[in-house]
Amino acid sequence: MTLPWSLECSACGRIRGAEGLPGVCDCGQPLLVRYPSAPPPGAQAHLRERPWTMWRYREWLPLADGESPVTLGEGGTPLLAVERVAARHGFGDLWVKDESGNPTGSFKARGLAAAVTRAVQAGVRRLVVPTAGNAGVALAAYATRAGVAARVYAPASTPPTILTQIRSFGAELVLVEGHIGDCGKAARAYAADTGALDVSTLREPYRIEGKKSLGLELAEQFGWTLPDVIVYPTGGGTGLIGMWKAFGELAAAGWVRGPLPRMYSVQSAGCAPVVQAFRAGAAACTPWPEPRTIAAGLQVPSPLGDRLMLAALRQSGGDAVTVTDAQLVAAAQQLQTLEGIDASPEGGATLAGALELKARGVVTAEQRIVLFNTGAGWLYRG
Ligand SMILES: Cc1ncc(COP(=O)(O)O)c(C=O)c1O
Repeated sequence: MTLPWSLECSACGRIRGAEGLPGVCDCGQPLLVRYPSAPPPGAQAHLRERPWTMWRYREWLPLADGESPVTLGEGGTPLLAVERVAARHGFGDLWVKDESGNPTGSFKARGLAAAVTRAVQAGVRRLVVPTAGNAGVALAAYATRAGVAARVYAPASTPPTILTQIRSFGAELVLVEGHIGDCGKAARAYAADTGALDVSTLREPYRIEGKKSLGLELAEQFGWTLPDVIVYPTGGGTGLIGMWKAFGELAAAGWVRGPLPRMYSVQSAGCAPVVQAFRAGAAACTPWPEPRTIAAGLQVPSPLGDRLMLAALRQSGGDAVTVTDAQLVAAAQQLQTLEGIDASPEGGATLAGALELKARGVVTAEQRIVLFNTGAGWLYRG
């Protein structure tokens, strides 16, 4: 079947059709989906009849007419005003987009729902992913939902509850003594040997499309307006890149007006290649030698999406900051004890990052600021 969208290389600009099993461009850089047209603002009326899952935005997502997604009801997560935390730290308009209630407990559900949907439409029966943890749980569940096989490569240091979840959703789990980059090499070798589809971050174009729904949903929840500031815990970059793509597409289609949000990336001091490259004015990251943080999702020493992330931060007028593990743990505890939000360490990093940005005068109390609790804290306990 001819698909209505095309794929554009994010680096060399080459455009190709979406048929088959697209990976990366021949130049090695990620492909991005380009749609022939955007839904007109009048199409907002259709949304009233649709359930609150990410597929309510199906015209913005890689789904052809008549196709059904592989879904567990992902998306439609709450956008919470956090007034107690705001009052404690002198913020005026602070929000948390709480992704912990997604199927499989993290925002990774959005990207993997989209990637697995396209893979099974293309006839794939076996998938593989390297993971810092949560993407492995999501792939395990969505592959099972689609009735196909999944293999997951995860660092042996991944929190035990996450590893249990990967196994219990039925995936084949392989533990690697090393970091996600080492898992990526093993996953590519497995894909080459078996013909499995590698759904690593940005090694196929559809996880980003699923992550775009974070930005679409945020815009709708704020009545088709966008916040001033987004603070995002950055590992491989799918959320940051996906949201920035969503905002660009919404603005081009006339669904939102005015300036786009400033995007701020938070990383752990133990693994901060994006912050380092941003500060150095570099276009790409230098691999981080010994990545170490308890925020497993932030332990990505050499992200393939580095150029796209750095471009999004710069185009938006944002910045990148590090926080220590002690800061991010303390901030996650505050979200839990003051607001009842089950924050993951990565979610805590966004509050810690916002405090850092405010202390430096980069963000101000008057701005509308959205933090992302990208996953559930319980997955890191036990
Ligand atoms: C809970 C959590 N937050 C944030 C991230 C970073 O993800 P990305 O930068 O790819 O959006 C991850 C990745 O594993 C994660 O599991």
